[in-house]
Amino acid sequence: MDYKGLYIRLNEARDAVEILDQTRLPCHETWLSLSGEDELCEAITSLRVRGAPAIGIFSAYALYVLTVRRHAPDYKSFLVSFKEHCTRLLATRPTAVNLKHAILACVLAVQRANPQTVAVSTEAIRLTAERLQTEDSEICRTMASHALTLLKPSDTLLTHCNAGPLATSRYGTALGPMILGAERGMRFHVYCDETRPLLQGARLTAFELRRAGVKHTLIPDSAAFDVLKNRGVSAVLVGCDRMAQNGDFANKIGTAALAVLAREAGVPFYVLCPNSSIDRSIAHGGEIPIEMRGAEEVTSLYFTEPVAPAGTDVYNPAFDVTEASCITAVITEDGVFYPPFDFSEKEA
Ligand code: MRU
Repeated sequence: MDYKGLYIRLNEARDAVEILDQTRLPCHETWLSLSGEDELCEAITSLRVRGAPAIGIFSAYALYVLTVRRHAPDYKSFLVSFKEHCTRLLATRPTAVNLKHAILACVLAVQRANPQTVAVSTEAIRLTAERLQTEDSEICRTMASHALTLLKPSDTLLTHCNAGPLATSRYGTALGPMILGAERGMRFHVYCDETRPLLQGARLTAFELRRAGVKHTLIPDSAAFDVLKNRGVSAVLVGCDRMAQNGDFANKIGTAALAVLAREAGVPFYVLCPNSSIDRSIAHGGEIPIEMRGAEEVTSLYFTEPVAPAGTDVYNPAFDVTEASCITAVITEDGVFYPPFDFSEKEA
């Protein structure tokens, strides 16, 4: 496996989406071929494919495969089933706005198809999925270049969750500068939070950094403040699932606490956020829907036996909202942005 991606693709016959099953990593590199609506949606809800940009790209390919397989006899029935597929995919996960943006891009492509036939519209969806993937690849590299201007060649960094190639098209958001930096001969040392309860930091980030040849050390989430205070960390880099106009943003649960800790420790806190993760329709983070997930993720999923008494009440939000006041800078493909933030309109 190439540490830079791509982990989402169409099969040769172009009637199924192939993904590397992220739930099986790091021990098993298992590729899945998915074509039914249930299994495509299950892949998102079960986090076989996950990470904000990756969910969006996958959904666009899923729409294409579902449309191809439906063989709609006429344009009217094509539109009916297309709308149903969009609705079902949109309902899979609520927080990362990339999903909505990718589906909207496909809707727009269908509206603009000329002539408005089943064949031309279907092809327009495929081209949209490919464009989103290619663009994301370029965007991640551009963001990484911008972020490198803020870092020194032997910096010690800290990151949370997984915002690397597995969560995007290539390079990643927060991991982009680490991987691009390594290619340019920079010698970062990255501390990765294990990221309870689903351990994306341990299972995915440590795996990707190893592949990329970036020195890294895995820590329990609870060690973050100790590391920030005592291990010479020069910056915290995280990704983003949805950012509001004012810079408040949702990311994996634990990010908000980390941001507060970084501020307390005097360590810069950088958010790598492509435009596809900015929701310009919402004013602040209070408007971001937060996904709640099952109790078993906390009590039993990665343990040989349950670690809490049966029936224990569990609160398991998958994301939290970090206030813009904790952010040192936001890095998008358009550059580096400092507070006060105003993402109500896209830069020209
Ligand atoms: O629940 P997940 O694993 O999809 O959550 C992913 C994150 O929160 C990432 O940090 C986020 O998508 C960063 S941008 C790649």
